[in-house]
Amino acid sequence: MMDTGMIMQALRDPAGLPAPPVLFQILMVITWALHIAFVHLTLGSAGVAIVAFHRSRGPQDSWLRLSWTMTKVAKVGVSLLIVLGVAPLLFTQVIYDPQWYVSNVLSGAWVIAFIATLIVGYCAWFVFYYANREGARRHVVMWAWLALALFVLDGLIMHALAYQALRPQDWVSWYAPGGIVDTSGSRLHAIDWPRFVFMISLSLPAVGVFLLAYAQYVGARSDRTSEEREWVARLGRRLAVAGWGLSALTWLIWQWSQPELLRGHPVGWALGASLVAMGLWLWRWAPGRAGWGPLAAGVAVLLLLAVWREVVRVALLGQHGYSILDYPVHPDEPSTWLFFSTLLGIGGLVGGFYLTLLYRAGRTVGLYRAEPVVARLGTAAVAVLVLWIAVFFLYGIVIWLRNSFL
Ligand code: HEM
Repeated sequence: MMDTGMIMQALRDPAGLPAPPVLFQILMVITWALHIAFVHLTLGSAGVAIVAFHRSRGPQDSWLRLSWTMTKVAKVGVSLLIVLGVAPLLFTQVIYDPQWYVSNVLSGAWVIAFIATLIVGYCAWFVFYYANREGARRHVVMWAWLALALFVLDGLIMHALAYQALRPQDWVSWYAPGGIVDTSGSRLHAIDWPRFVFMISLSLPAVGVFLLAYAQYVGARSDRTSEEREWVARLGRRLAVAGWGLSALTWLIWQWSQPELLRGHPVGWALGASLVAMGLWLWRWAPGRAGWGPLAAGVAVLLLLAVWREVVRVALLGQHGYSILDYPVHPDEPSTWLFFSTLLGIGGLVGGFYLTLLYRAGRTVGLYRAEPVVARLGTAAVAVLVLWIAVFFLYGIVIWLRNSFL
């Protein structure tokens, strides 16, 4: 009988990789950290929007204003978590294609349900977004609860897909339980609850540090009072302290439930230590003080989590003799260049332009007129987009002509 290591080797894409596997691994880790940052921000701000809605007592109170703001944050957050989920999805499919595809096929119905529930959830959030206005009726909040529940369900599906991929020793028994093939894909076969709860619990400190940064950001606006800013910062600190404490606890449970070879791993413990350090730092943070620092440090914690996830994967698949390092490589320099120049040009310049524009516009009361430097950045962004589209088509046409006529 074939062993699991050989099955995984056999399932690899015979075309191999266009560049060294480590390159894809690094990109996967970094882009996943960005994906999960927006997952946490979305779930956290959706939760705060709902609680603030329930707490508001009148049209002009701070809770209602906070609920409106966080409804908008979650609205934008979902779109960014989707966009930023695509990148690690592609990289996972490149270096962990055997694991990812098997896991998806084993739970095919859930993969389709993932898309459907995400669409329904996002629509429900939009209903709440439009309904959450001055004088809104209390029951509109049910839409927000529905959306949040569906988002968490989507996280659970994502988690099961990621976790099933780590257990190749169970694939055959999931595929043919008791020797009878089950092609329905209607089951989530494995859920590691401590890992999932830990991942989701990070939404609480995430929204806490976001509120501290938000209070700092709106500090420049003349239409916000200093009391309101201080109130937001106080709330942010409280959520962050409680959140880091909670996530340190859930991390400990996850770490405890890990297999022997990972339980004492230094990267796992470094992650735990960083959660405790964040909690202690914010506990000593002056109530009412705003700042960007905790948000930046929070992103660093997520990078560490992304590295730890990858260490866990490498260790568990390594037990079956699987390593991405022996993936066959057939270098394809032009496509590697195209990829990195797209990342720099489109990601850096176009993304940079949007970020600068939004940052400046959000701090302006009333109509925002772009400063000369922002306007120039806009022109450069359009130019690089045109260039990119031209190169993209030219490259395709040249390859097509070469393959067809030369
Ligand atoms: C509300 C929607 C979503 C939530 C709450 C969510 C949440 C999560 C969570 C919690 C994980 C970590 C699972 C684990 O390691 O145990 C994860 C992983 C991941 N998510 Fe999402 N996600 C969402 C949508 C998306 C979308 C739309 C995409 C792609 C377009 C995506 C792509 C990924 C990828 C590629 C991974 C890593 C899989 C792996 O490395 O094995 N996610 N997501």
